[in-house]
Amino acid sequence: MSEPSLETRNLTIRFGGHTAVDDVSCAFRPGELTVIVGPNGAGKTTYFNLMSGQLRPSSGTILKAGQDITSFSPSARAKAGMGRAFQLTNLFPKLSVVENVRLAVQSRHGIGPRLLRKASAFTGLTDAAMRHLDATRLTSVAHLPAAALPHGDQRKLEVALLLAMEPDIFMFDEPTAGMSVDEAPVILELIEEIKQDRSKTILLVEHKMDVVRALADRIIVLNNGALVADGDPEEVIALPIVREIYLGIPADENTGEAA
Ligand SMILES: Nc1ncnc2c1ncn2[C@@H]1O[C@H](COP(=O)(O)OP(=O)(O)OP(=O)(O)O)[C@@H](O)[C@H]1O
Ligand SMILES: [Mg+2]
Repeated sequence: MSEPSLETRNLTIRFGGHTAVDDVSCAFRPGELTVIVGPNGAGKTTYFNLMSGQLRPSSGTILKAGQDITSFSPSARAKAGMGRAFQLTNLFPKLSVVENVRLAVQSRHGIGPRLLRKASAFTGLTDAAMRHLDATRLTSVAHLPAAALPHGDQRKLEVALLLAMEPDIFMFDEPTAGMSVDEAPVILELIEEIKQDRSKTILLVEHKMDVVRALADRIIVLNNGALVADGDPEEVIALPIVREIYLGIPADENTGEAA
């Protein structure tokens, strides 16, 4: 088995008296898509916030390809290849969609404004940006101001910006939330495409069981902040706790399926 690309060891965060992530030790590997499930308030988003650096743990460590990144800032983690799709709060709303993505490509490659005076450098960056827009099916809106995009296209732009960062860890927290039924498949296809690159590690928080079944190589379950199950998708889906979360069947009415 390959070395973990990302690992949390005894990761814990407390808010006042509440332990939102409770001693979670888990390793993720390249070429693996792990879906994280659990009831509302289980700690899934908080686990992501700890890994991407938005929150500092009360205790425990985060290792990226063996390197301890626990004390890294969010931007240092992004530079190290941790990629998280974010709600678009740091966009340039008046700039066009393609210019926003071009700036992301530029920052990824550490290209400053001086170098950009070269027309060839500029064209190269714009071409790269257009490729990400093509992948996210945003070509037709490339020249609209970013702020003018409807909700579904904004969610796709989040993914285009993520692709521009060329991360090796992709974190998606309910990526199709609030999208229409015809838009959601585009995001899922994109995640499928990222998955083809076996060097990438993908973490996905997702509630929709059909999506989970279609994409997961592995499922982990968080409950009250703790890791309570981890394994093969069909085995984990059959567990009483998962049936309770998704089907509303009380665990004590489930029998025999525990792996
Ligand atoms: N910054 C914070 N300060 C205090 N409590 C917090 C903070 N962030 C999260 N929590 C609490 O931590 C717990 C876990 O929340 P989290 O958002 O991680 O759950 P979740 O599994 O993502 O839920 P959902 O499925 O609803 O998105 C909740 O009880 C939440 O209220
Ligand atoms: Mg959440």
